[in-house]
Amino acid sequence: MILSPSLLSSDYGRLADELAALEAAGCKWVHWDVMDGSFVPNITLGAPIIKRLRKASKLFFDVHLMVDRPERYIGDFVDAGSDMIVVHAESTAHVERALAEIKRQGVQCGVALNPHTPLTVLDYVLDQLDMVLLMSVNPGFGGQKFLPFTMRKIEDLSAMIKARGLKTLIQVDGGVDPDNTAELVRRGADVLVSGSAFFGFPPYAERLKTFEAAAAK
Ligand code: DX5
Ligand code: ZN
Repeated sequence: MILSPSLLSSDYGRLADELAALEAAGCKWVHWDVMDGSFVPNITLGAPIIKRLRKASKLFFDVHLMVDRPERYIGDFVDAGSDMIVVHAESTAHVERALAEIKRQGVQCGVALNPHTPLTVLDYVLDQLDMVLLMSVNPGFGGQKFLPFTMRKIEDLSAMIKARGLKTLIQVDGGVDPDNTAELVRRGADVLVSGSAFFGFPPYAERLKTFEAAAAK
């Protein structure tokens, strides 16, 4: 299991320090929630901030775009130093175009699905993906409650990936905590995003260990 702490719950006034603290704690990934105030109700941050912080960190930058028509900004997020760019299936009529552009620019790509969006939208693009992000809350805010019906979705996606002999990672985002971690991993999650249940419980090294111990159960 890879834990990808969501900076949405970090101290935005001290992002460079937060990134350094994650690295020192032993984290390998960090999750950037980019919200545009249109696809989701909130506005967070964009490519210039990520680009600036890229200089301060060796972490794997996992960039979750909650943005309408993300294909307009792929170049900016590649240029910012993203290691993985994830676009929402619901955010564009041209998912394949966005994915092809991410790949063309040499970055890993993923598709995110809102809780109610069926897995069938992945049918023809699954082979192109490095990761699928399953939202387990409605995107837009940190600190929401995990939606239990998304558990079955993880299992269904895991079966779909195995049946095709693929290595696509399954990421679960929203309401993840040490209490549901074991079940998420059992159902097939490879990467867990945690915001409030991670940053609210320092020290980070201890918190990472708590998640890892839960995942090994
Ligand atoms: C929600 C974001 C998540 C969020 C998770 O729109 O995509 O990454 O930060 O926060 P928690 O872990 O608090 O649900
Ligand atoms: Zn996210």
